[in-house]
Amino acid sequence: MSGIKIGVIGGLGHIGLVHSACLAELGYETIACDIDLGKISAANEGKVPFREPGLQALVEANRKKGRLRFVREVAELEAADVVYICVDTPPLASGAPDTSNVDSVVQAVAAGRKRPLVIALKSTVPVGTARRLSRYLAENGLSGHVAIVSNPEFLREGSAVDDFWHPARIVVGGESEEAVAQIAALYSPPGVPVLTTSWENAELIKYASNAFLALKISFINEIAGLSEKLGGDIRVVSRGIGLDPRISPHFLEAGVGFSGPCLEKDLRSLIQQFTAAGLEPQLLSSALVVNHEQRAAVVRKLLRRLGTLNGKRICVLGMAFKPQTDDVRNSHSLPIVQHLIALGSQVAVYDPWVKGPQEAGLAAAELPGVKWAATAYEAAAGAEGLIILTAWPEFRKLDLERLRSSMARPVIVDGRNLFDPAAMRSLGFDYQGVGICAV
Ligand code: UDX
Repeated sequence: MSGIKIGVIGGLGHIGLVHSACLAELGYETIACDIDLGKISAANEGKVPFREPGLQALVEANRKKGRLRFVREVAELEAADVVYICVDTPPLASGAPDTSNVDSVVQAVAAGRKRPLVIALKSTVPVGTARRLSRYLAENGLSGHVAIVSNPEFLREGSAVDDFWHPARIVVGGESEEAVAQIAALYSPPGVPVLTTSWENAELIKYASNAFLALKISFINEIAGLSEKLGGDIRVVSRGIGLDPRISPHFLEAGVGFSGPCLEKDLRSLIQQFTAAGLEPQLLSSALVVNHEQRAAVVRKLLRRLGTLNGKRICVLGMAFKPQTDDVRNSHSLPIVQHLIALGSQVAVYDPWVKGPQEAGLAAAELPGVKWAATAYEAAAGAEGLIILTAWPEFRKLDLERLRSSMARPVIVDGRNLFDPAAMRSLGFDYQGVGICAV
């Protein structure tokens, strides 16, 4: 396709690898660059470092066709016409993201460049970053042929490949019309709105989108608290709200709250950007407070049923931050399990895709004494309480009679509202969901 060559830095991360594989699938010769040598050699043999539906097959097919390869050195991107920056921006103590990885790879890829290059920033960076980096290029005599654009990504883990093919919109910000047009033209499926704008708008669109999603979830969770007290069923309330097209049904599922590597981090970063600008956001901090309360609430419900958790065996179903991923980064399950441990519980966990601490990239000391079971039934054996934390479809298909008979006491706190409370009670469970009145 058009002979354009692509480089992707951070090419073995969740965003970078999906982009690399999909761009290669579109026909572009793509080189994914990453600092992790182990992951590079595994990827060059066709092994993907994390689970993402559809990704392994895409990587394998394009690697075999010679359109996708993995390298360590940024210097190998010399032939690339476009380089996407997908490196991480870990949070600093202030809540601001550390952009030093972005800064150094932009400097490395631009250094000594003689040919034209467009650098597309996919990493989520504070508003003003693209302008600041562009200034750096100008100061170093590179801006005549190296341009920066902001091209935020909206991929969700668990459906990232599908999201790539079916984006809701494509946002490209920058000052070079030519560079913006080039990025927009690389992939914009028919009918998908393409918003070309300034760097600042593009950067802010990313933060505001994730913050709004977080607010929606915290909103429904706050209403869920009232619904639970006043005899309501939040699932019905949520449906009734979502039928209004001005609101939409998405991101209105009450539960144990949002987690994962993006929403909370981006919300904290946005709050920090307000503060740095001398403003005080009112709504954003509340979304975090509500979200943390959701986590405490599931443990409180268990405590109310069992009196104490000291010495009790507790089963936790779901460690990944959402279904269809093996990602536990900033998963709500980690602090909840740690809370259970701190209260003296003996915890057994089960997750269909996260089978042990090493696999999850966790140090064993993070979850001391936790048993990683091979099945949900094994995790539930002898338990006096069970908490559901991730909405895995396979949990809905559990043999509930078997589950109940393997538990010492059939208490379930369902942080994802997977089951019908009345049906669960008729099966003999002491069952409580979120936002649903317990009778
Ligand atoms: C998010 C954004 O959706 C995506 O556009 C951006 O690129 C990256 O951040 P992701 O973190 O992968 O994607 O997952 P998402 O589907 O947004 O879910 C985030 C969390 O919210 C999960 O813990 C999920 O379980 C929770 N959630 C989601 C709810 O609790 N209720 C809902 O209704 C929806």
